[in-house]
Amino acid sequence: MDRWQTIIEPFRIHAVEPIRLTTAGERERALADAGWNLFSIHAEDVLIDLLTDSGTGAMSRDQWAAIQHGDESYAGSPSWYVFLEAVQELFPFRHVIPTHQGRAAERILFSVVGGPGLCVPNNTHFDTTRANVEFTGAEAVDLVIPEGSEPSTIRPFKGNVDVAALERLLEERGPDVPLVMVTITNNSGGGQPVSLENLRAVRALCDRFGKPLFLDACRFAENAWFIKSREPGQEHRTVKEIVREVASLADGMTMSAKKDGLANIGGWLALNDDALAEQCRTLLILTEGFPTYGGLAGRDLEAIAQGLREVVDEDYLRYRARSTAYLGDALVEAGIPCVQPFGGHAVYLDARGLLPHIPPLEYPGQALAVELYRAGGIRGCEIGTVMFGRHPDGSEAPAAMDLVRLAIPRRTYTQSHIDYVIEVALDVAARASSLRGYRIVREPAALRHFTARFEPLA
Ligand code: F0G
Repeated sequence: MDRWQTIIEPFRIHAVEPIRLTTAGERERALADAGWNLFSIHAEDVLIDLLTDSGTGAMSRDQWAAIQHGDESYAGSPSWYVFLEAVQELFPFRHVIPTHQGRAAERILFSVVGGPGLCVPNNTHFDTTRANVEFTGAEAVDLVIPEGSEPSTIRPFKGNVDVAALERLLEERGPDVPLVMVTITNNSGGGQPVSLENLRAVRALCDRFGKPLFLDACRFAENAWFIKSREPGQEHRTVKEIVREVASLADGMTMSAKKDGLANIGGWLALNDDALAEQCRTLLILTEGFPTYGGLAGRDLEAIAQGLREVVDEDYLRYRARSTAYLGDALVEAGIPCVQPFGGHAVYLDARGLLPHIPPLEYPGQALAVELYRAGGIRGCEIGTVMFGRHPDGSEAPAAMDLVRLAIPRRTYTQSHIDYVIEVALDVAARASSLRGYRIVREPAALRHFTARFEPLA
Protein backbone atom coordinates (compact mmCIF):
# COMPACT_ATOMS: atom_id res chain seq x y z
CA MET A 1 0.00 0.00 0.00
CA ASP A 2 1.21 3.52 -0.77
CA ARG A 3 1.03 6.07 2.03
CA TRP A 4 -1.65 8.28 0.37
CA GLN A 5 -4.81 8.80 2.39
CA THR A 6 -7.18 10.08 -0.29
CA ILE A 7 -9.46 7.34 -1.54
CA ILE A 8 -10.19 8.05 -5.19
CA GLU A 9 -12.65 6.76 -7.75
CA PRO A 10 -10.81 3.71 -9.17
CA PHE A 11 -11.91 4.65 -12.71
CA ARG A 12 -12.00 7.62 -15.05
CA ILE A 13 -15.02 8.84 -16.99
CA HIS A 14 -15.48 7.60 -20.53
CA ALA A 15 -18.93 8.85 -21.53
CA VAL A 16 -20.90 11.72 -19.99
CA GLU A 17 -24.58 12.52 -19.60
CA PRO A 18 -25.76 16.12 -19.20
CA ILE A 19 -27.73 17.14 -16.12
CA ARG A 20 -29.67 20.38 -15.84
CA LEU A 21 -30.52 22.69 -12.97
CA THR A 22 -34.14 23.83 -13.03
CA THR A 23 -35.41 27.13 -11.62
CA ALA A 24 -37.18 27.30 -8.27
CA GLY A 25 -40.42 28.10 -10.13
CA GLU A 26 -40.06 25.04 -12.38
CA ARG A 27 -39.51 22.78 -9.38
CA GLU A 28 -42.52 24.25 -7.57
CA ARG A 29 -44.72 23.50 -10.60
CA ALA A 30 -43.22 20.03 -11.02
CA LEU A 31 -44.05 19.24 -7.38
CA ALA A 32 -47.66 20.40 -7.71
CA ASP A 33 -48.10 18.42 -10.96
CA ALA A 34 -46.64 15.33 -9.25
CA GLY A 35 -48.94 15.59 -6.24
CA TRP A 36 -45.79 16.10 -4.13
CA ASN A 37 -44.75 12.54 -4.91
CA LEU A 38 -41.11 12.46 -6.03
CA PHE A 39 -41.69 9.20 -7.93
CA SER A 40 -43.95 11.21 -10.26
CA ILE A 41 -41.37 13.91 -11.09
CA HIS A 42 -39.84 13.76 -14.57
CA ALA A 43 -36.23 12.64 -14.13
CA GLU A 44 -35.08 15.46 -16.43
CA ASP A 45 -36.31 17.90 -13.79
CA VAL A 46 -33.97 16.32 -11.21
CA LEU A 47 -30.39 17.55 -10.85
CA ILE A 48 -28.88 14.92 -8.55
CA ASP A 49 -30.99 11.79 -8.51
CA LEU A 50 -30.54 9.88 -5.27
CA LEU A 51 -33.96 8.21 -5.43
CA THR A 52 -32.36 4.79 -5.69
CA ASP A 53 -29.12 2.95 -6.30
CA SER A 54 -31.13 0.36 -8.22
CA GLY A 55 -30.41 0.11 -11.94
CA THR A 56 -29.03 3.66 -11.94
CA GLY A 57 -25.29 2.95 -11.87
CA ALA A 58 -22.79 3.46 -14.66
CA MET A 59 -21.67 0.38 -16.55
CA SER A 60 -18.01 -0.14 -17.30
CA ARG A 61 -16.29 -0.23 -20.69
CA ASP A 62 -16.06 -4.00 -20.30
CA GLN A 63 -19.77 -4.31 -19.59
CA TRP A 64 -20.63 -2.34 -22.73
CA ALA A 65 -18.24 -4.58 -24.64
CA ALA A 66 -19.88 -7.66 -23.13
CA ILE A 67 -23.23 -6.38 -24.38
CA GLN A 68 -21.92 -6.76 -27.93
CA HIS A 69 -21.35 -10.44 -27.17
CA GLY A 70 -25.02 -10.87 -26.26
CA ASP A 71 -26.47 -13.87 -28.05
CA GLU A 72 -30.23 -13.73 -28.36
CA SER A 73 -30.90 -17.43 -29.01
CA TYR A 74 -34.17 -18.42 -27.39
CA ALA A 75 -32.79 -21.57 -25.76
CA GLY A 76 -29.28 -22.40 -24.57
CA SER A 77 -27.66 -19.09 -25.56
CA PRO A 78 -23.91 -18.85 -24.88
CA SER A 79 -24.74 -15.68 -22.92
CA TRP A 80 -26.78 -17.81 -20.54
CA TYR A 81 -23.77 -20.00 -19.79
CA VAL A 82 -21.56 -16.95 -19.25
CA PHE A 83 -24.16 -15.64 -16.78
CA LEU A 84 -24.60 -19.00 -15.05
CA GLU A 85 -20.87 -19.38 -14.56
CA ALA A 86 -20.47 -15.86 -13.14
CA VAL A 87 -23.37 -16.37 -10.71
CA GLN A 88 -22.17 -19.79 -9.56
CA GLU A 89 -18.61 -18.54 -9.15
CA LEU A 90 -19.93 -16.46 -6.23
CA PHE A 91 -23.10 -18.35 -5.30
CA PRO A 92 -22.65 -22.05 -6.05
CA PHE A 93 -26.35 -22.98 -5.84
CA ARG A 94 -27.48 -25.89 -7.99
CA HIS A 95 -30.29 -24.06 -9.75
CA VAL A 96 -30.13 -20.51 -11.11
CA ILE A 97 -33.33 -19.02 -12.47
CA PRO A 98 -32.89 -15.68 -14.27
CA THR A 99 -35.58 -13.03 -13.78
CA HIS A 100 -36.05 -9.51 -15.06
CA GLN A 101 -35.43 -8.09 -11.59
CA GLY A 102 -35.42 -8.99 -7.91
CA ARG A 103 -39.14 -8.75 -7.26
CA ALA A 104 -39.88 -11.28 -10.02
CA ALA A 105 -37.68 -13.76 -8.16
CA GLU A 106 -39.57 -12.91 -4.95
CA ARG A 107 -42.93 -13.32 -6.64
CA ILE A 108 -42.00 -16.74 -8.01
CA LEU A 109 -40.51 -17.96 -4.72
CA PHE A 110 -43.38 -16.82 -2.52
CA SER A 111 -46.04 -17.99 -4.98
CA VAL A 112 -44.63 -21.46 -4.36
CA VAL A 113 -43.81 -21.38 -0.64
CA GLY A 114 -46.23 -18.70 0.64
CA GLY A 115 -49.94 -18.85 1.41
CA PRO A 116 -52.57 -17.94 4.00
CA GLY A 117 -51.66 -18.66 7.62
CA LEU A 118 -47.93 -18.88 6.90
CA CYS A 119 -45.31 -16.55 8.24
CA VAL A 120 -41.94 -15.47 6.79
CA PRO A 121 -39.28 -14.02 9.12
CA ASN A 122 -36.58 -11.68 7.80
CA ASN A 123 -34.28 -9.15 9.44
CA THR A 124 -36.34 -6.51 7.63
CA HIS A 125 -38.38 -7.20 4.53
CA PHE A 126 -37.79 -4.77 1.71
CA ASP A 127 -41.11 -3.30 0.52
CA THR A 128 -41.46 -5.52 -2.57
CA THR A 129 -40.49 -8.60 -0.55
CA ARG A 130 -43.09 -7.77 2.09
CA ALA A 131 -45.69 -7.12 -0.61
CA ASN A 132 -44.95 -10.42 -2.34
CA VAL A 133 -45.18 -12.34 0.95
CA GLU A 134 -48.41 -10.60 1.94
CA PHE A 135 -49.94 -10.98 -1.53
CA THR A 136 -50.01 -14.75 -0.95
CA GLY A 137 -51.86 -14.23 2.36
CA ALA A 138 -48.76 -14.97 4.46
CA GLU A 139 -47.44 -12.71 7.18
CA ALA A 140 -44.06 -10.92 6.83
CA VAL A 141 -42.33 -10.65 10.21
CA ASP A 142 -39.33 -8.35 10.78
CA LEU A 143 -36.87 -9.57 13.43
CA VAL A 144 -33.91 -7.20 13.25
CA ILE A 145 -31.92 -6.65 16.47
CA PRO A 146 -33.32 -3.75 18.58
CA GLU A 147 -30.33 -1.50 17.73
CA GLY A 148 -31.35 -1.87 14.08
CA SER A 149 -34.24 0.52 14.73
CA GLU A 150 -32.23 3.09 16.71
CA PRO A 151 -30.80 5.56 14.17
CA SER A 152 -27.98 6.96 16.30
CA THR A 153 -26.79 3.78 18.03
CA ILE A 154 -23.44 2.86 16.53
CA ARG A 155 -22.90 -0.89 16.10
CA PRO A 156 -20.97 -2.57 13.30
CA PHE A 157 -23.77 -4.94 12.20
CA LYS A 158 -27.13 -3.32 12.82
CA GLY A 159 -28.70 -5.47 10.12
CA ASN A 160 -28.29 -8.60 12.25
CA VAL A 161 -31.23 -10.88 12.91
CA ASP A 162 -32.44 -10.99 16.52
CA VAL A 163 -31.55 -14.66 16.97
CA ALA A 164 -33.48 -15.06 20.24
CA ALA A 165 -36.61 -13.60 18.64
CA LEU A 166 -36.21 -15.91 15.65
CA GLU A 167 -35.85 -18.88 17.98
CA ARG A 168 -39.07 -17.90 19.79
CA LEU A 169 -40.91 -17.52 16.50
CA LEU A 170 -39.71 -20.91 15.29
CA GLU A 171 -40.71 -22.52 18.61
CA GLU A 172 -44.16 -20.93 18.61
CA ARG A 173 -45.01 -21.02 14.89
CA GLY A 174 -42.53 -23.50 13.44
CA PRO A 175 -45.01 -25.32 11.18
CA ASP A 176 -46.16 -21.99 9.68
CA VAL A 177 -42.67 -20.91 8.61
CA PRO A 178 -41.82 -22.08 5.07
CA LEU A 179 -38.36 -20.47 5.11
CA VAL A 180 -36.22 -17.89 6.90
CA MET A 181 -34.95 -14.92 4.93
CA VAL A 182 -32.05 -12.54 5.63
CA THR A 183 -31.58 -9.32 3.66
CA ILE A 184 -27.96 -8.31 3.03
CA THR A 185 -27.53 -5.43 3.50
CA ASN A 186 -30.64 -4.44 5.41
CA ASN A 187 -31.94 -1.78 3.04
CA SER A 188 -35.10 -0.75 4.90
CA GLY A 189 -33.14 -0.58 8.15
CA GLY A 190 -30.56 1.89 6.83
CA GLY A 191 -28.37 -0.26 4.58
CA GLN A 192 -26.89 -1.95 7.62
CA PRO A 193 -24.81 -5.09 7.16
CA VAL A 194 -25.28 -8.55 8.64
CA SER A 195 -22.25 -10.25 10.19
CA LEU A 196 -20.94 -13.66 9.28
CA GLU A 197 -21.32 -14.65 12.93
CA ASN A 198 -25.02 -13.74 12.83
CA LEU A 199 -25.56 -15.62 9.57
CA ARG A 200 -23.91 -18.69 11.08
CA ALA A 201 -26.21 -18.45 14.13
CA VAL A 202 -29.29 -18.14 11.89
CA ARG A 203 -28.06 -21.14 9.89
CA ALA A 204 -27.72 -23.17 13.09
CA LEU A 205 -31.32 -22.30 14.08
CA CYS A 206 -32.58 -23.18 10.61
CA ASP A 207 -30.83 -26.56 10.90
CA ARG A 208 -32.36 -27.18 14.32
CA PHE A 209 -35.87 -26.42 13.07
CA GLY A 210 -35.41 -27.92 9.61
CA LYS A 211 -36.02 -24.64 7.75
CA PRO A 212 -34.39 -23.46 4.54
CA LEU A 213 -32.47 -20.18 4.72
CA PHE A 214 -32.75 -17.75 1.81
CA LEU A 215 -30.75 -14.60 1.27
CA ASP A 216 -32.12 -11.43 -0.24
CA ALA A 217 -28.65 -10.71 -1.57
CA CYS A 218 -29.08 -7.47 -3.55
CA ARG A 219 -26.09 -5.77 -1.90
CA PHE A 220 -24.00 -8.85 -1.13
CA ALA A 221 -20.67 -7.28 -2.11
CA GLU A 222 -21.17 -4.23 0.10
CA ASN A 223 -22.18 -6.58 2.92
CA ALA A 224 -19.04 -8.65 2.38
CA TRP A 225 -16.91 -5.50 2.39
CA PHE A 226 -18.33 -4.56 5.80
CA ILE A 227 -17.64 -8.08 7.07
CA LYS A 228 -14.06 -7.75 5.86
CA SER A 229 -13.56 -4.29 7.33
CA ARG A 230 -15.59 -4.60 10.56
CA GLU A 231 -15.73 -8.23 11.70
CA PRO A 232 -12.81 -9.46 13.81
CA GLY A 233 -10.83 -12.18 12.07
CA GLN A 234 -12.18 -11.42 8.57
CA GLU A 235 -9.75 -8.68 7.52
CA HIS A 236 -7.32 -11.04 5.80
CA ARG A 237 -9.87 -12.82 3.64
CA THR A 238 -10.82 -11.70 0.15
CA VAL A 239 -14.31 -10.34 -0.45
CA LYS A 240 -14.89 -13.19 -2.85
CA GLU A 241 -14.09 -15.77 -0.17
CA ILE A 242 -16.47 -14.05 2.22
CA VAL A 243 -19.24 -13.96 -0.41
CA ARG A 244 -18.79 -17.66 -1.05
CA GLU A 245 -18.97 -18.48 2.63
CA VAL A 246 -22.13 -16.39 3.00
CA ALA A 247 -23.62 -18.30 0.06
CA SER A 248 -22.60 -21.64 1.58
CA LEU A 249 -24.68 -20.85 4.68
CA ALA A 250 -27.88 -20.49 2.65
CA ASP A 251 -30.16 -22.82 0.70
CA GLY A 252 -31.07 -20.21 -1.85
CA MET A 253 -31.26 -16.53 -2.71
CA THR A 254 -33.23 -13.86 -4.47
CA MET A 255 -31.21 -11.20 -6.22
CA SER A 256 -31.65 -7.90 -7.96
CA ALA A 257 -28.72 -7.44 -10.34
CA LYS A 258 -29.66 -3.73 -10.44
CA LYS A 259 -27.65 -3.24 -7.26
CA ASP A 260 -24.45 -5.25 -6.79
CA GLY A 261 -24.83 -6.82 -10.23
CA LEU A 262 -23.74 -3.38 -11.50
CA ALA A 263 -26.36 -3.71 -14.23
CA ASN A 264 -29.36 -1.61 -15.21
CA ILE A 265 -31.79 -4.53 -15.14
CA GLY A 266 -31.88 -8.16 -14.09
CA GLY A 267 -32.06 -10.57 -11.21
CA TRP A 268 -32.29 -14.21 -10.33
CA LEU A 269 -33.59 -16.82 -7.96
CA ALA A 270 -31.08 -19.51 -7.01
CA LEU A 271 -31.58 -22.55 -4.84
CA ASN A 272 -30.49 -26.11 -4.17
CA ASP A 273 -33.81 -27.92 -3.75
CA ASP A 274 -34.64 -29.78 -6.99
CA ALA A 275 -38.38 -30.09 -6.45
CA LEU A 276 -38.77 -26.44 -5.45
CA ALA A 277 -36.66 -25.37 -8.43
CA GLU A 278 -38.95 -27.27 -10.78
CA GLN A 279 -42.03 -25.55 -9.39
CA CYS A 280 -40.31 -22.18 -9.66
CA ARG A 281 -39.24 -22.80 -13.28
CA THR A 282 -42.83 -23.61 -14.19
CA LEU A 283 -43.90 -20.20 -12.90
CA LEU A 284 -40.90 -18.60 -14.60
CA ILE A 285 -42.07 -19.84 -17.98
CA LEU A 286 -45.56 -18.51 -17.27
CA THR A 287 -44.53 -14.90 -16.68
CA GLU A 288 -40.81 -14.33 -17.31
CA GLY A 289 -39.54 -16.61 -20.07
CA PHE A 290 -37.66 -19.77 -20.93
CA PRO A 291 -35.26 -20.90 -18.17
CA THR A 292 -32.08 -19.96 -20.06
CA TYR A 293 -33.02 -16.28 -20.34
CA GLY A 294 -35.86 -15.71 -17.87
CA GLY A 295 -36.91 -12.10 -18.13
CA LEU A 296 -33.71 -10.94 -19.79
CA ALA A 297 -32.10 -10.41 -23.16
CA GLY A 298 -28.84 -12.25 -23.86
CA ARG A 299 -27.03 -8.92 -23.74
CA ASP A 300 -28.35 -8.26 -20.22
CA LEU A 301 -27.04 -11.64 -19.07
CA GLU A 302 -23.60 -10.68 -20.38
CA ALA A 303 -23.62 -7.27 -18.68
CA ILE A 304 -24.56 -8.86 -15.35
CA ALA A 305 -21.87 -11.52 -15.64
CA GLN A 306 -19.22 -8.85 -16.18
CA GLY A 307 -20.72 -6.71 -13.38
CA LEU A 308 -20.41 -9.60 -10.93
CA ARG A 309 -16.70 -9.89 -11.74
CA GLU A 310 -16.20 -6.15 -11.15
CA VAL A 311 -18.26 -5.69 -8.01
CA VAL A 312 -16.04 -7.86 -5.80
CA ASP A 313 -13.00 -5.70 -6.66
CA GLU A 314 -11.75 -4.39 -3.35
CA ASP A 315 -10.52 -1.00 -4.64
CA TYR A 316 -14.05 -0.44 -5.92
CA LEU A 317 -15.66 -1.49 -2.63
CA ARG A 318 -13.28 0.63 -0.53
CA TYR A 319 -14.12 3.67 -2.68
CA ARG A 320 -17.82 2.80 -2.55
CA ALA A 321 -18.00 2.61 1.25
CA ARG A 322 -15.79 5.67 1.70
CA SER A 323 -17.64 7.89 -0.76
CA THR A 324 -20.98 7.09 0.87
CA ALA A 325 -19.54 7.82 4.32
CA TYR A 326 -18.14 11.13 2.96
CA LEU A 327 -21.70 12.37 2.52
CA GLY A 328 -22.83 10.99 5.87
CA ASP A 329 -19.87 12.39 7.79
CA ALA A 330 -20.54 15.91 6.49
CA LEU A 331 -24.24 15.76 7.40
CA VAL A 332 -23.59 14.40 10.89
CA GLU A 333 -20.85 16.95 11.50
CA ALA A 334 -23.40 19.66 10.70
CA GLY A 335 -25.78 18.18 13.29
CA ILE A 336 -28.22 16.46 10.92
CA PRO A 337 -29.38 13.21 12.54
CA CYS A 338 -28.59 10.21 10.34
CA VAL A 339 -28.65 6.44 10.67
CA GLN A 340 -25.18 5.44 11.81
CA PRO A 341 -22.86 3.91 11.00
CA PHE A 342 -23.36 4.55 7.28
CA GLY A 343 -24.28 1.67 5.02
CA GLY A 344 -22.72 1.07 1.63
CA HIS A 345 -25.36 2.31 -0.77
CA ALA A 346 -27.00 5.26 0.91
CA VAL A 347 -27.14 7.76 3.72
CA TYR A 348 -30.40 7.78 5.64
CA LEU A 349 -31.49 11.06 7.22
CA ASP A 350 -33.55 10.70 10.37
CA ALA A 351 -36.48 12.92 9.42
CA ARG A 352 -38.35 12.18 12.65
CA GLY A 353 -35.29 13.41 14.58
CA LEU A 354 -34.79 16.49 12.40
CA LEU A 355 -38.49 17.45 12.28
CA PRO A 356 -39.86 16.57 15.75
CA HIS A 357 -42.72 19.04 15.24
CA ILE A 358 -44.16 16.91 12.39
CA PRO A 359 -45.96 13.81 13.75
CA PRO A 360 -45.31 10.52 11.91
CA LEU A 361 -48.81 10.46 10.40
CA GLU A 362 -48.04 13.83 8.78
CA TYR A 363 -45.03 12.18 7.13
CA PRO A 364 -41.85 13.99 8.22
CA GLY A 365 -39.83 11.93 5.73
CA GLN A 366 -42.02 13.11 2.88
CA ALA A 367 -41.67 16.71 4.08
CA LEU A 368 -37.88 16.48 4.13
CA ALA A 369 -37.60 14.69 0.78
CA VAL A 370 -39.85 17.25 -0.92
CA GLU A 371 -37.86 20.14 0.55
CA LEU A 372 -34.54 18.74 -0.70
CA TYR A 373 -36.02 18.67 -4.18
CA ARG A 374 -37.64 22.09 -3.89
CA ALA A 375 -34.41 23.67 -2.63
CA GLY A 376 -31.81 22.06 -4.87
CA GLY A 377 -33.34 19.59 -7.33
CA ILE A 378 -32.11 16.65 -5.25
CA ARG A 379 -34.34 13.60 -5.28
CA GLY A 380 -34.22 11.26 -2.29
CA CYS A 381 -36.74 8.69 -1.13
CA GLU A 382 -38.97 8.56 1.93
CA ILE A 383 -38.52 5.30 3.81
CA GLY A 384 -40.94 5.58 6.67
CA THR A 385 -44.62 5.94 7.40
CA VAL A 386 -45.58 6.62 3.77
CA MET A 387 -43.82 3.44 2.66
CA PHE A 388 -44.70 1.18 5.58
CA GLY A 389 -47.55 2.85 7.49
CA ARG A 390 -50.52 1.28 5.70
CA HIS A 391 -51.30 -2.31 6.75
CA PRO A 392 -53.13 -5.05 4.83
CA ASP A 393 -56.15 -4.70 7.16
CA GLY A 394 -56.47 -1.04 6.11
CA SER A 395 -55.19 0.46 9.36
CA GLU A 396 -52.46 3.08 9.44
CA ALA A 397 -49.71 3.41 12.06
CA PRO A 398 -46.30 5.09 12.30
CA ALA A 399 -43.42 3.06 10.85
CA ALA A 400 -40.49 2.16 13.12
CA MET A 401 -38.52 5.11 11.72
CA ASP A 402 -39.15 8.02 9.38
CA LEU A 403 -36.10 8.23 7.15
CA VAL A 404 -35.10 9.89 3.92
CA ARG A 405 -32.71 7.80 1.93
CA LEU A 406 -30.11 9.47 -0.24
CA ALA A 407 -29.05 6.46 -2.31
CA ILE A 408 -25.85 6.75 -4.28
CA PRO A 409 -25.92 5.27 -7.79
CA ARG A 410 -22.78 3.21 -8.36
CA ARG A 411 -19.85 4.89 -10.16
CA THR A 412 -22.09 7.77 -11.29
CA TYR A 413 -21.61 10.97 -9.30
CA THR A 414 -18.36 12.71 -8.36
CA GLN A 415 -17.30 14.32 -5.10
CA SER A 416 -18.39 17.80 -6.24
CA HIS A 417 -21.91 16.50 -6.89
CA ILE A 418 -21.90 15.23 -3.33
CA ASP A 419 -20.50 18.53 -2.03
CA TYR A 420 -23.48 20.24 -3.67
CA VAL A 421 -25.88 17.77 -1.98
CA ILE A 422 -24.24 18.58 1.37
CA GLU A 423 -24.66 22.34 0.82
CA VAL A 424 -28.36 21.97 -0.02
CA ALA A 425 -29.04 19.57 2.88
CA LEU A 426 -27.42 21.96 5.35
CA ASP A 427 -29.57 24.81 4.06
CA VAL A 428 -32.75 22.73 4.46
CA ALA A 429 -31.72 21.56 7.94
CA ALA A 430 -31.16 25.16 9.05
CA ARG A 431 -34.82 25.86 8.14
CA ALA A 432 -36.15 22.59 9.60
CA SER A 433 -38.59 24.18 12.05
CA SER A 434 -40.40 25.95 9.18
CA LEU A 435 -41.17 22.72 7.29
CA ARG A 436 -44.75 21.45 7.40
CA GLY A 437 -46.24 17.96 7.07
CA TYR A 438 -48.36 16.41 4.32
CA ARG A 439 -51.59 14.53 3.96
CA ILE A 440 -52.37 11.82 1.44
CA VAL A 441 -55.25 12.68 -0.86
CA ARG A 442 -55.21 9.50 -2.97
CA GLU A 443 -53.49 6.13 -2.57
CA PRO A 444 -53.61 2.65 -4.12
CA ALA A 445 -54.28 -0.58 -2.20
CA ALA A 446 -50.63 -1.66 -1.92
CA LEU A 447 -47.15 -0.09 -2.29
CA ARG A 448 -48.76 3.31 -1.90
CA HIS A 449 -45.53 5.30 -1.87
CA PHE A 450 -45.06 4.84 -5.62
CA THR A 451 -48.30 6.49 -6.72
CA ALA A 452 -49.95 8.25 -3.78
CA ARG A 453 -50.76 11.94 -4.20
CA PHE A 454 -50.12 14.36 -1.35
CA GLU A 455 -51.07 17.86 -0.30
CA PRO A 456 -48.99 20.12 1.95
CA LEU A 457 -50.66 20.89 5.28
CA ALA A 458 -51.21 24.56 6.04
N1 F0G B 1 -34.71 -6.57 -1.98
C1 F0G B 1 -34.06 -5.46 -1.60
C2 F0G B 1 -33.29 -5.44 -0.32
C3 F0G B 1 -34.11 -4.31 -2.41
O1 F0G B 1 -33.47 -3.22 -2.03
C4 F0G B 1 -34.86 -4.36 -3.61
C5 F0G B 1 -34.98 -3.19 -4.45
C6 F0G B 1 -35.49 -5.55 -3.97
C7 F0G B 1 -35.39 -6.64 -3.12
C8 F0G B 1 -36.28 -5.69 -5.24
O2 F0G B 1 -35.46 -5.68 -6.35
O3 F0G B 1 -36.12 -3.63 -7.62
O4 F0G B 1 -34.90 -5.48 -8.73
O5 F0G B 1 -37.26 -5.76 -8.07
N2 F0G B 1 -34.68 -2.05 -4.06
C9 F0G B 1 -34.73 -0.82 -4.83
C10 F0G B 1 -34.39 0.31 -3.92
C11 F0G B 1 -35.96 -0.62 -5.61
O6 F0G B 1 -34.59 1.47 -4.34
O7 F0G B 1 -33.92 0.10 -2.81
P1 F0G B 1 -35.98 -5.10 -7.76
